Amino acid sequence: MTKLFQTFALRGITLKNRFMISPMCTYRAGQDGMAHDWHLMHYGRLAAGGAAIVMTESISVVPDGRHCYGDIGIWNDEQIVPLKRITDFIKAQDSIPAIQLQHAGRKASSTRPWHGGARALDETDLKLRGEKGWTVVAPSPLPYTPSAPTPRELTTAEVRELVTQYAAAAERALRAGFEIIEVHAAHGYLINEFLSPVANHRTDEYGGSLQNRMRFLLEIIDVVRAIWPEDRPVLVRVSAVDGVEGGWSLDDTVALAQELKLRGVDAIDCSSGGMGGSAVNARVSRGPGFQVPFAERVRLDAGIATVAVGLILEPAQAAEIVDSGRADIVAIGREALRDPNWPNVARTQLDPAGGYAHWPDPVGWWLDRRAQSLAAKD
Ligand SMILES: Cc1cc2nc3c(=O)[nH]c(=O)nc-3n(C[C@H](O)[C@H](O)[C@H](O)COP(=O)(O)O)c2cc1C
Repeated sequence: MTKLFQTFALRGITLKNRFMISPMCTYRAGQDGMAHDWHLMHYGRLAAGGAAIVMTESISVVPDGRHCYGDIGIWNDEQIVPLKRITDFIKAQDSIPAIQLQHAGRKASSTRPWHGGARALDETDLKLRGEKGWTVVAPSPLPYTPSAPTPRELTTAEVRELVTQYAAAAERALRAGFEIIEVHAAHGYLINEFLSPVANHRTDEYGGSLQNRMRFLLEIIDVVRAIWPEDRPVLVRVSAVDGVEGGWSLDDTVALAQELKLRGVDAIDCSSGGMGGSAVNARVSRGPGFQVPFAERVRLDAGIATVAVGLILEPAQAAEIVDSGRADIVAIGREALRDPNWPNVARTQLDPAGGYAHWPDPVGWWLDRRAQSLAAKD
């Protein structure tokens, strides 16, 4: 039997299988950044679908860190209440609730994708939906694309203040019942902007050398790890490569993963891209499992558990990734949007003898009877 359905220990947490629901923005919160019933339904059905870990979408640590007005926030105590309902429900489905913490940096103050392809908010959005844009911040005053607004450069004191805001968010995440925390350091958002030489031209201790560019993330990990209980895991999602000329490289990711491991990070979630800029020769071409080689290299060279993600479309493909030791966990994104039961479907497909025993009773019992009826007709 494939390792895909075997348990895996991350500190004091035992995953029941190797599936994680990949963090995916739903853009459904109100302007107050509150989660509500729609989120409970969405994450609830993903938990009932059989994944060991249900990771939330990226949740903002400060209001101005929101990518758009649909983002959930965790910058005040009221926001804990609906999140606690969601974590309680996920746990009741025998799944583990995980939260992704985020600041969108120079990509904040954008529209939802279906309101104009994630461009900067402008007067039209204010008129149509009452969505007022705000000044975005970044390590350096460099726009994401030539037509994007120029961000304001964070002062050194503001960078340090943001570190404390990650700590406050982690403390609220704990009270909201999350068992795993993932720091989002990928996709061209704030932490990724500090890491990448393309977006970080600072001259203080947060810019320049690789060690200095890593400092913001490492300080965040130190404060998060200090709050997060010893028996609960901390993950970091990275863009393993920027995929742009002169950008962050896979060697940089291995060096970062080694540092993160020393600071108590338990797994690296290996994504890529999002930095903008010229990508003529450096772009990562996208096909099934295109980011798996990143997870494999980090796992091997940094000696840390990894999550593979990106166009993992077939159960056998997921099994091969885990069984060949290329990653410890597979994250499923859009396949789970298409079918929230995907992990359970994968198990029934790869282990037909097990039938539907692992599905929730109100579903599995009937699917099992149906399968027996169909088999009897043959
Ligand atoms: C609708 C949508 C929202 C996403 N939001 C996030 C996010 O909040 N945080 C993040 O790290 N990645 C986000 N991603 C990236 C996914 O987590 C995942 O890495 C990507 O979709 C590739 O995996 P897939 O091919 O299984 O979908 C998002 C992707 C989609 C499709």
